Amino acid sequence: MTTAAGAAVAATSITPAAAAAGETTDSLRTFRRTADYAVTKLRAVAPGVTAFPEITRFEKWTYSQNGGWIGGFWPGTLWLASLHSGDPQFRTLAMASAEKLAPRQHETRDHDLGFLFYPSWVTGWRLTGDEKWRTGALNAAASLIQRYNEKGRFIRAWGALGTPGNAGRVIIDTMMNLDLLTFASKQTGDRKYLDIAISHAKTTERVFLRPDGSTPHVFDFDPETGAEIGPNTVQGYSPTSCWSRGQAWGIYGFTTMYRRSGDPLFLRTAQRLADFALRALTPDNVPVWDYLAPQAPHDVKDSSAGAVMACGLLDLAKAANRPHYREAAIRILTALCDTCLTTKSTRAEAIVARGTRNRRAEDGVEVSLPYADYYLLEGLLRVLMPKEIDKAIDLSSV
Ligand code: GLY
Repeated sequence: MTTAAGAAVAATSITPAAAAAGETTDSLRTFRRTADYAVTKLRAVAPGVTAFPEITRFEKWTYSQNGGWIGGFWPGTLWLASLHSGDPQFRTLAMASAEKLAPRQHETRDHDLGFLFYPSWVTGWRLTGDEKWRTGALNAAASLIQRYNEKGRFIRAWGALGTPGNAGRVIIDTMMNLDLLTFASKQTGDRKYLDIAISHAKTTERVFLRPDGSTPHVFDFDPETGAEIGPNTVQGYSPTSCWSRGQAWGIYGFTTMYRRSGDPLFLRTAQRLADFALRALTPDNVPVWDYLAPQAPHDVKDSSAGAVMACGLLDLAKAANRPHYREAAIRILTALCDTCLTTKSTRAEAIVARGTRNRRAEDGVEVSLPYADYYLLEGLLRVLMPKEIDKAIDLSSV
């Protein structure tokens, strides 16, 4: 239910971008109804949530105590719910949840600091102006750049610093952690964060992009010399396949890096990734978990890949001035609203169903995932309330 009059007006008006993309009042009505559903669900579930929702088992959340890599999405979802509803209860809950991430800001044991601190603390600072969120996010950026390997020009994904396991391992997901670094450069005036983000993105473009625009999940380097070893995977079907959530992280991440740097290489790269994913997308508009798995496209779906991809495509449409990416995003969001919500279950605690965490490890198929909920809501609000979402996550370009 929408409680703030201002939010209700913003949610019903058709923006110029929406009109240009031929969006109908039907799709806007569907998106508003779904955002209302998300708020209603969150009102019912949030008071009982004491840690970070990680994945559902039989439709109920199971939790990570320290936030794992997913701890930014619950406070992020609550911030977005506060924007759509105008209900101050969500701000209070978002702050209490974000606060629990405080010990992680100095952590250097993996690359996930952008996932953890952007939707929670950067957004918290942008929406409240409280310096504590800004300072913590800057500390997290300082922690993240310690993982930069000068020889290979990449940010190491996994493994504690100083340990040899995974020391040369790069993953496509890291593209989503770079915006924390661009934030840090903008805030401090120190270019080193932006330079590392640009350098990592260039390395990713060079080694991950196949001629057809698809990507592997992983690329390995010799951590001592920086020499390339080759593609690999952990969450995709194989080193030569294309894990759909990874491809979506790439679309979103390269588009963001174009906006932050102005480098046309990143715009071209985002378009190549998007064009591959859109060619591989089936008429139901919900991505299969891996576009190049042997059974694809007749294999399990991943709604979270669709939600992330839709957000990236909305951004890309504007950055590239190509309305067809926006039209594709609207189709994906509509499909998620029509075929992937938990609306018919009275048990479900999440908003979105039909997610896949790690099909390859047989871990989490047909589940709900906090990043599907977060990015669906982000995507809906990118369409319904573009000014408010810009205020929350900063959609500006250099
Ligand atoms: N970043 C981990 C995942 O997408 O599953």
